[in-house]
Amino acid sequence: MSDTGSKMDDAARAILAQNDRGGYTVPTHGLYPFQWNWDSAFVAMGFATYDVGRAYRELERLIEGQWDDGMIPHIIFHAPSDTYFPGPEVWGTQHGVPTSGITQPPVFGMALRSIHDAALAARFPDAGARGQALFQAALRHHRWWLRARDPEGIGLVAILHPWESGSDNSPAWDIAFARVETSTTTAIRRRDLGHVDPAMRPRDIDYQRFIHLVDLYRECGWDPARQWARAPFKIAEVQMTAILARSTADLIALADALGTPEDKGELQDMLQVLLAGLASRWRPDLKRFVSLDLISGEDIEAPTQAGFMPLLAVALDDDQRKAVAEEITRWCSDVVVGLPTTPSFSPAFEAKRYWRGPVWAVINWLLADGLRLNKLDDLAREIEQATVQAIERRGFFENFDPVTGEGGGGDTFSWTAAAYLVLSRRS
Ligand code: GLC
Repeated sequence: MSDTGSKMDDAARAILAQNDRGGYTVPTHGLYPFQWNWDSAFVAMGFATYDVGRAYRELERLIEGQWDDGMIPHIIFHAPSDTYFPGPEVWGTQHGVPTSGITQPPVFGMALRSIHDAALAARFPDAGARGQALFQAALRHHRWWLRARDPEGIGLVAILHPWESGSDNSPAWDIAFARVETSTTTAIRRRDLGHVDPAMRPRDIDYQRFIHLVDLYRECGWDPARQWARAPFKIAEVQMTAILARSTADLIALADALGTPEDKGELQDMLQVLLAGLASRWRPDLKRFVSLDLISGEDIEAPTQAGFMPLLAVALDDDQRKAVAEEITRWCSDVVVGLPTTPSFSPAFEAKRYWRGPVWAVINWLLADGLRLNKLDDLAREIEQATVQAIERRGFFENFDPVTGEGGGGDTFSWTAAAYLVLSRRS
């Protein structure tokens, strides 16, 4: 490893140590002071590169927040903090450890596989027992996804809140989200604007709608069937479904070691359903996959990174592979760092505003995995190297402006550190 590489490795580990709150890692100090679901899954994979025990611990602390019905919430409020809104009092959920009431992309299964592989390589002693408990938690979570979020069995799982997608203010939600009312029973006290430049964050009107949905689902007692019936925002989402499918495939690979033959069969059935659902969302003219707005019945055509995420699980045919490679290359052609989460040719593109353009290291990580799975190794390597270089040049930022390469959002970000540890080992 080069001098830069080893200094950056030390810096990445130092960030994970600094953001450690006792077996779980906050995304960054101040802006996000609790445990976040998919952040922790990525962080666990980062830990797995040098401390397998700590990697297991990250996931174990996450499932302290798992609900009886299998849902893993998007935030676990292990300890109080007044630097974030909306806190536990707004969510009003009933779990022992306070949690939010919505979920986030289930990267958990992918993380478990990566930790298990690292444990075997390191001859880690407790891999069996710790892995089995986490495997069962993941299986219960996947069952929840299909039961609660695809009750009609279309092979695509739905989000009921933009925050569930992990891409909070993505242009993909604009049309559907505009139908959501802006009235709230909760007083909105944004804390994020005290940490980060408002020009990089979602707007106030977005927050009114975000909180309107939280108020509504809280009134439903967080019951999945009641929420499904009343949700004014319901999107069968390709990025979420792809991550679920990939995690399902990873659990299948672990089932012989950590589960039972019945578990394996059940996961194989789930995977077939999800792959069929994803296959139906390919649009050759757009050269990508599209999500489905379940309220209007319309395709969501806004170009965002989500359109390429099915590569994580789906084996593309030759025409699809060629089309995707061309399209990704086009999106990257006029930026200094790719892949922008919204391409610069889109009217919705904003180079610095959160999920409306900036490049996110963990998205590139997923995308590169999907490209490798589909034998597009050169493109995968380009994206990995662009990510590693952006971090080496600017630091461990929450995201990067694709046009200038500048870091944006919060600094000393845990999942960016984890992405560095993993991606810099691949190049
Ligand atoms: C923001 C991001 C989300 C992430 C969270 C913590 O809400 O949109 O994806 O999990 O911050 O980093």
